[in-house]
Amino acid sequence: AADAVSLTIDTAKPGAVINKDIYGQFAEHLGTGIYEGIWVGPKSKIPNTKGWRNDVVGALKAMHVPLVRWPGGCFADEYHWKDGIGAREKRAVKVNTNWGGVEESNAVGTHEFFDLVEILGADAYVNGNLGTGNAQEMSEWIEYMTSDSKSTLANLRRKNGRDKPFKVAYFAVGNEAWGCGGNMSPDYYADLYRNTETFLRAPKQYRPKMLASGGNDNDTTWTETLSRRLKDKTAGISFHYYTIPTDKWEGKGAATGFKENEWFSTLSNTLRMDDHIARNVAVLDKNDPEKKIGFMVDEWGTWYDVEKGTNAGFLFQQNTLRDAVVAALNFNIFHAHADRVRMTNIAQMVNVLQSMIITDKDKMVLTPTYHAYEMYVPFQGATSLPLTLQNNPKYTLDGKSIPEISASAARGADGKLYLALVNTNPGQAADVALNIPGQTIKAVKGRVLTAEAMDAHNSFTTPQAIKPAPFSAAAGADGKLTVKVPAKAVIVVAVE
Ligand code: AHR
Repeated sequence: AADAVSLTIDTAKPGAVINKDIYGQFAEHLGTGIYEGIWVGPKSKIPNTKGWRNDVVGALKAMHVPLVRWPGGCFADEYHWKDGIGAREKRAVKVNTNWGGVEESNAVGTHEFFDLVEILGADAYVNGNLGTGNAQEMSEWIEYMTSDSKSTLANLRRKNGRDKPFKVAYFAVGNEAWGCGGNMSPDYYADLYRNTETFLRAPKQYRPKMLASGGNDNDTTWTETLSRRLKDKTAGISFHYYTIPTDKWEGKGAATGFKENEWFSTLSNTLRMDDHIARNVAVLDKNDPEKKIGFMVDEWGTWYDVEKGTNAGFLFQQNTLRDAVVAALNFNIFHAHADRVRMTNIAQMVNVLQSMIITDKDKMVLTPTYHAYEMYVPFQGATSLPLTLQNNPKYTLDGKSIPEISASAARGADGKLYLALVNTNPGQAADVALNIPGQTIKAVKGRVLTAEAMDAHNSFTTPQAIKPAPFSAAAGADGKLTVKVPAKAVIVVAVE
């Protein structure tokens, strides 16, 4: 057997607090991500609260969703908020030009969205329309949501059922301005952002953190231009990176039934997130050494070929153990950059891309990604702790390698020490020997997520095929504690 990996946690040098919003979600008007998936309407036979289905909302509450981004994505840059207020039966019906060309009833609008986040106990991230909208439309939306005056717009909000202002935690000016948001250059966008932001007025206690829409993948030019030109005008610059097994948008690879080469390439590609963040952070450190600007990864996750027989515009894919491992690898990366990465939003919450929950009429199943999020809850608001891994073997396939073990440690808000471990190797367990200078480790207790098959997943016929199991280990007679991390597994434990 290989020698144990040696993992040392330095509790004497606490790092940045892991913002709870790193565990944020994204709900776009896309496919059945909102309609059917969470929103069924108050008259539905499916049990619901103010139109939001109780089963899905209950599961999301159990995984402590801290933040929801809405209404897009690409959809945001064609969304006119006034279409989504007032009597639902009178709302404008539009065509969702980005996603499947289906009718958009506007049944879910501003008030419904805030009902959802308030039921969830989450914060709201509203994405404004810069593409087909303008400064006036966004400034009026901000006034409608946040004004406590007796202005006509604030009174319209009251007439529509909401007396007190809504609490908008974040407001973004546009989305993917380099693409679906208007095919702009960074400088042109920066001009529009500066112009728009000037008019986004809100009472101090209700003023959202303003976000600028940034770049994606290998491109750091957006971060470069925006951090230089929007200083003191933005709380964060966003960034998008999707994990695609084959690296090709045509023929991305399937969500299930894949071979080990696509297990490997998916994990290898997702680990690029670390480089992407590091390169952008280097730019931010140069232009914003005071660290005022956050780096918000407000879209990320796996993107596979859609499931056979489904609408290609709905981006519906199954979700397997591989996705849970992808999620955990990214969490560990985000924790390591917690001083800059202050928010992320996985795409997307329900039924779209790497979702937490899949629904079919009145049924729902929790995905392996859901379980990864739920296992990592103790890391929300925890203080990251530096750790080193020595003797970490490589997982090698076809001459390419990635590290076998990924780890993250933090001091939870409850004072306990939490450790997350991921084994990327689907064929071999790994021994990890724990060291905490100045502390005797007695035991680790928590849960593990693993399965026999790389593509283990939950379906409506086998909804519990993969779920977390209890996991513990105790120190040996020599006082040393070694954790045996199963092949292709995610572990989160409290260290005692
Ligand atoms: O999440 C799906 C889409 O991916 C979003 O609408 C867009 O911003 C990105 O290209």
